[in-house]
Amino acid sequence: MAEQAKVNADLERVVAEVNPRLYGSFVEHLGRCVYTGIYEPEHPSAGPDGFRQDVLDLVRELGVTTVRYPGGNFVSGYRWEDGVGPKERRPARLDLAWHSTETNQFGLDEFMEWTESAGIEPMMAVNLGTRGLEEALDLLEYTNVPGGTAVADQRVANGRAEPYGVGMWCLGNEMDGPWQLGHRDAEAYGELAGRVGAGMLQIDPGLELVVCGSSNSSMPTFGSWEKEVLRQTWDVISHISCHAYYEEKDGDTQSFLASAVDMDRFIGVVAGVIDEVAAEKAADGGGIVGTDGADASDGAAGEARARKVGISFDEWNVWYQRHWESEEKVTGATDPWPVAPRLLENSYSVADAVVVGSLLISLVRHADVVTSASLAQLVNAIAPIMTEPGGPAWRQTIFYPFAVAAGLARGEVVECSVAGPSIQTAEFGTVPAVDAVVTVDREAGRGLLMAVNRSLGDEVSLGLSSILGSGPGGGTHPDDDLLAGGAVNASHVRVSASPAGVGARTSDQSHSLEQSAFSAVTRVRMLCDDDIRAANTLEDPERVTLREVAASKIAGGELLLPPVSWAAIEFSL
Ligand code: AHR
Repeated sequence: MAEQAKVNADLERVVAEVNPRLYGSFVEHLGRCVYTGIYEPEHPSAGPDGFRQDVLDLVRELGVTTVRYPGGNFVSGYRWEDGVGPKERRPARLDLAWHSTETNQFGLDEFMEWTESAGIEPMMAVNLGTRGLEEALDLLEYTNVPGGTAVADQRVANGRAEPYGVGMWCLGNEMDGPWQLGHRDAEAYGELAGRVGAGMLQIDPGLELVVCGSSNSSMPTFGSWEKEVLRQTWDVISHISCHAYYEEKDGDTQSFLASAVDMDRFIGVVAGVIDEVAAEKAADGGGIVGTDGADASDGAAGEARARKVGISFDEWNVWYQRHWESEEKVTGATDPWPVAPRLLENSYSVADAVVVGSLLISLVRHADVVTSASLAQLVNAIAPIMTEPGGPAWRQTIFYPFAVAAGLARGEVVECSVAGPSIQTAEFGTVPAVDAVVTVDREAGRGLLMAVNRSLGDEVSLGLSSILGSGPGGGTHPDDDLLAGGAVNASHVRVSASPAGVGARTSDQSHSLEQSAFSAVTRVRMLCDDDIRAANTLEDPERVTLREVAASKIAGGELLLPPVSWAAIEFSL
């Protein structure tokens, strides 16, 4: 018999607005992400701009809102000037990060044009590895200044009259990592980032700058790095970055499935450091600036903890990094400096997609502090979209939870908790088997519950009846104890799902029954499979897709979650 779990949520208790930037992604000059990924002039679907239309269609379907560019490790050796102007004059260069040859046939103007075709907000990174203030200012002038000055006029001469108006900029990449070209310690990087950031704001005070946080939560300097760089850059930045990649290690699938526990803790620690530095800055006399930009230093104590710095979780995904390190890495032993080699082309399984769905739940739950995020990456290299040169493009398993979240987990995230069984993991100890998050998009009149069963072996029956909302005609919350995880009086909120279409109501509904959000479930989709290693491939590109769950399966307000499954339950408000 299935174990029982119950979601408790209140649609009226808003945690935060979900920033659309949470559904960003990442295009790096890495392997085949750019070349034969988004850009392949010889491809049958490519237009005169060289962009693969089949990939653009999938990118639009994925619902990506922002894309970070051009790296990643690549940016730390990149000369942006190489990638602009007539293509025949662009130099080829060594890319030290990925041991490849960069042809520079795709550069800044192509990327901007591509984002415009895709309807995506670009997010740029400046090189603080081999370069510094002057090059960053030139890049910003080229990108954002209308014209009439030397560098901006180069853009105009290159065929783009209007500035691009890029609003979000990363101050380097993973500068705490010894692998990073130009790696520095926290003091040196903080000083450089503060200086470059201040200069960039002199050109455009409206920019949102992202300072590098730790490359992952296992870095030896994690925590102290954040504190130091925040102290040095506090006055110029809007975000600090987090990066995290997860993989199954040594066959420990159960720990891998619980990877979001690490993401939750990671976000919690970084949010704590942001608060700490905010308090220090306030004590220094500057006052604490609230999230809305207003000075909250003389407000209530709670207000004083408000932060203006958010987290940009601008690299996250499943990545089989150990395989890359041991077998895949280009070392020069074979082709010394290949052009667009097949690198990091992970094939994602159902289990991987369930983990990605679980990480999305964590990100959305933390929308109060996570103001931007980028699934790393977009095409071919650790990506939801795969391509063959001259051939088709297809969706990996991880495409599905991302597309659902990007399309529907919008509006506001509301308070939500789950009571249910636990699982034992070697890496994280005892953790809840089921995790969930609820968002409501009041403008669109709909909501979404995303839930994951991280148990490797046990199915769980998920009770949906304690999700309360104002319902038709509005109303207040009938039982404040619900969200405290107390006993649930299921009699005053019940779900009725009719086989003919979820949404019918039972005849015994009282006024409080009107408050069940789940009287209006409109669609249920699930990611699960008897074979959790199943994946989509060139030969079988649709082996794994989302499964529609018949309304009859949730009659009585219970949804059966198989082991290793992720579900999206849509409802109307
Ligand atoms: O996304 C792949 C690489 O992972 C990025 O280039 C780097 O920033 C991170 O280590």
